[in-house]
Amino acid sequence: MKILAISGSLREKSYNKAILQALNDMDSSINIYEDLGNLPFFNPDINNHTLEKDDSPLLVQELRKNIAFSDAIIISTPEYAFEISGVLKNALDWLVSSAEIVNKPVAVISASTSAMGGDKANEVLVKLIKVLTGTINEKLILTVPKANRKIDDKGHIVDKVLLKELNILLNELKSTIKRKNNKFN
Ligand SMILES: Cc1cc2nc3c(=O)[nH]c(=O)nc-3n(C[C@H](O)[C@H](O)[C@H](O)COP(=O)(O)O)c2cc1C
Repeated sequence: MKILAISGSLREKSYNKAILQALNDMDSSINIYEDLGNLPFFNPDINNHTLEKDDSPLLVQELRKNIAFSDAIIISTPEYAFEISGVLKNALDWLVSSAEIVNKPVAVISASTSAMGGDKANEVLVKLIKVLTGTINEKLILTVPKANRKIDDKGHIVDKVLLKELNILLNELKSTIKRKNNKFN
């Protein structure tokens, strides 16, 4: 099983990144995507692909292959002005026409220092995943309010409830993958 984890925050001490790192510590089948900030800006003029061949920028090709060869994705986003981050939206724009997310199980997390846990960005991201026809359900959605009280300076999760929530989310994602594989085998 292979799961790709994408943080929508480029910040070095990002709580969203720390959450994905914690998931990676729980399960080595989770790989963290590192190139979000290096992707070119989406431009339809350089989005050159067919079903057979992809002549889009190299990092875009790599992202698409990475997702295509993953059984599921976990995206953890910050909330900036009630929205997901621009870099995350940019990456998702590259995936609209190439369809790697179609039927792919996706877990959506938002972590914020606010008491709302980035719920508005979370909603936006869930809506985008539905537009891209990824597989999502309410058990694959998590908001993390007051992340600064749950994650320490070193990026370690110090909140037992959050660790449990992440465990439940991960198990649900794995069950979704298994259900999907059983359906198609
Ligand atoms: C420009 C900017 C806008 C923000 N807007 C919101 C917001 O609308 N809602 C919210 O809950 N937090 C907002 N925040 C706080 C971020 O959610 C918080 O800093 C969070 O920790 C960022 O995620 P990260 O730790 O993964 O980088 C904002 C932060 C910045 C820098």
